[in-house]
Amino acid sequence: MPVTTVANHKGGVGKTMLALLIAAELAQRGRRVLLVDCDPQGNLSRRCGYTKAELAERLSTAEVIRDKSPELLAAATLPCQWEDEFADRIFVVPARKELEQRASEGAGTGSWRRLNAALAQARDIYDDILIDTPPQLGHLLHNALVASDHIIIPTEPELDSIQGVYRLQEFLDSEEEGKALGVTASVAGVIINTFRARVVTHETRAAEIRTTWGPLVWAPPIPLTVRLQDTSEFAEPPQKAGADLTMIASMMGDSYLKAVAA
Ligand SMILES: Nc1ncnc2c1ncn2[C@@H]1O[C@H](COP(=O)(O)OP(=O)(O)O)[C@@H](O)[C@H]1O
Ligand SMILES: [Mg+2]
Repeated sequence: MPVTTVANHKGGVGKTMLALLIAAELAQRGRRVLLVDCDPQGNLSRRCGYTKAELAERLSTAEVIRDKSPELLAAATLPCQWEDEFADRIFVVPARKELEQRASEGAGTGSWRRLNAALAQARDIYDDILIDTPPQLGHLLHNALVASDHIIIPTEPELDSIQGVYRLQEFLDSEEEGKALGVTASVAGVIINTFRARVVTHETRAAEIRTTWGPLVWAPPIPLTVRLQDTSEFAEPPQKAGADLTMIASMMGDSYLKAVAA
């Protein structure tokens, strides 16, 4: 079923948080979700309950991409460790720090299609596949984009991360870049994160984002929420930050289903 990359090569804009938030919301609605951690930092894997020590001897996204293997992907897939009942419907292909180097072993023409090949069977098994990506526009992000039907882009209402969205859009539209790699995915959502109402620059930047991406901008923005920072330390869904986040997650789920699964 649909494969969606969460991307913005600016770091710290909420990619991992958003992937987890949407996965939790979809699983609560009864959908089976596969999360693929394509970031060597492995934050998503940790937040699904797997420490670096626990992952040291396991298969990971690195081997899956290197060998472009659906069998290895199935063997690498782990259950999400959250206590919630709905977590039974969330699965994760974890990442380790060797990912960058190992996924590129023997890289040559077409190596950006490896993850796409590895996901062949998973597409039929899961209702939704979400790929979390690293803060670089490199080999790993290329693999994620080529494997995807859709792209969703979180951004802070600040210049640097909006520049990241423009750059990604330019990459997708370019004959020499995205199209040359065979990326067919298009932007299904731009999500304004860490928004602070009544901060003039945030209002201005949010307006700019809406002018450029129009109906692709999911509403409402995700507010800057100190409690969300705390959830990132633990293996729990971001919605645990509070009832306001539960509401936001519900609206994000609606936007996702409309944009991606319709
Ligand atoms: N709306 C928000 N309010 C407060 N903190 C947030 C918000 N969104 C994300 N964070 C926090 O900011 C940090 C970076 O988010 P993360 O999802 O890891 O970004 P990325 O994956 O893009 O690098 C994490 O600690 C996360 O919990
Ligand atoms: Mg991240």
